[in-house]
Amino acid sequence: MNNDRPYVMCLMMTSVDGKILGEKWGNSPKMKILRNKFEEAHEELGIKAWIVGRTTMEKDFTDFTKPILKKGHQTLDRSDFVAEHQSDSFAIVIDGKAKLGWKESTMQGDHVITILTEDVPDAYLAHLRDIGLSYIFAGKKDISLKTALRKLRSLFGIEQLMLEGGSHINGSFLNEELIDELHQLLLPIADGTIETATLFEIEASVKKKGATLMKLENVKRIEDDVLWLTYKFDY
Ligand SMILES: NC(=O)c1ccc[n+]([C@@H]2O[C@H](COP(=O)([O-])OP(=O)(O)OC[C@H]3O[C@@H](n4cnc5c(N)ncnc54)[C@H](OP(=O)(O)O)[C@@H]3O)[C@@H](O)[C@H]2O)c1
Repeated sequence: MNNDRPYVMCLMMTSVDGKILGEKWGNSPKMKILRNKFEEAHEELGIKAWIVGRTTMEKDFTDFTKPILKKGHQTLDRSDFVAEHQSDSFAIVIDGKAKLGWKESTMQGDHVITILTEDVPDAYLAHLRDIGLSYIFAGKKDISLKTALRKLRSLFGIEQLMLEGGSHINGSFLNEELIDELHQLLLPIADGTIETATLFEIEASVKKKGATLMKLENVKRIEDDVLWLTYKFDY
């Protein structure tokens, strides 16, 4: 285990063909029950910090709110900003280009931390400071996930982190060998579409190696024909 970063557990629910986009599976009562398995597993694991990609955050949580810029001229250096926070649980996002709009600094009781590059407008940072939302820098123009994880541990004391999609952020973590465990909820669904994203997506141009072997740690049959598979990575 690497002690200068959090231990990373990836939680995802998929169809049997590894597809992740649950909203395409319809809204029948049975589908709703299956979709709830994700939150139930999240609660059961009980890890107090979770991280998602920018796309998942805007689609599932911030409802595509546009970036908010503080009016007036301001100059801010590129120091990390750890806002005062009461909560010891964290909602974290990788948003290198500052595309997300934030109106408040907590989400479902969790303190929000956004991970940015230095290449974002001062007026964006000024607004985050005004609302008390923490931000850290993890690269000048591109995000270094390793830097981001190191800072989450050193600045916020986060020792365990749930990585919760979508495909691209999962793929980025996998590509950097930064996932320690995978918790896959295998739903009794055959998706069957070609274009739908899978659990890990890595662009061929950046992919560092071939397939990654994992070790199966646990198989649990939970209600409603769902399998909870736990794997460990041993890079
Ligand atoms: N089934 C499940 O369990 C589950 C769980 C979570 C999400 N989902 C679904 O997954 C879908 C979204 O997945 P997605 O793959 O399209 O998007 P995503 O992984 O949520 O977000 C991708 C974005 O995150 C940023 N990002 C990720 N890795 C980065 C890196 N290494 N460096 C810099 N930025 C990085 C980039 O933002 P920029 O483009 O702004 O640079 C990238 O476009 C949603 O439909 C969501 O509902 C399903």
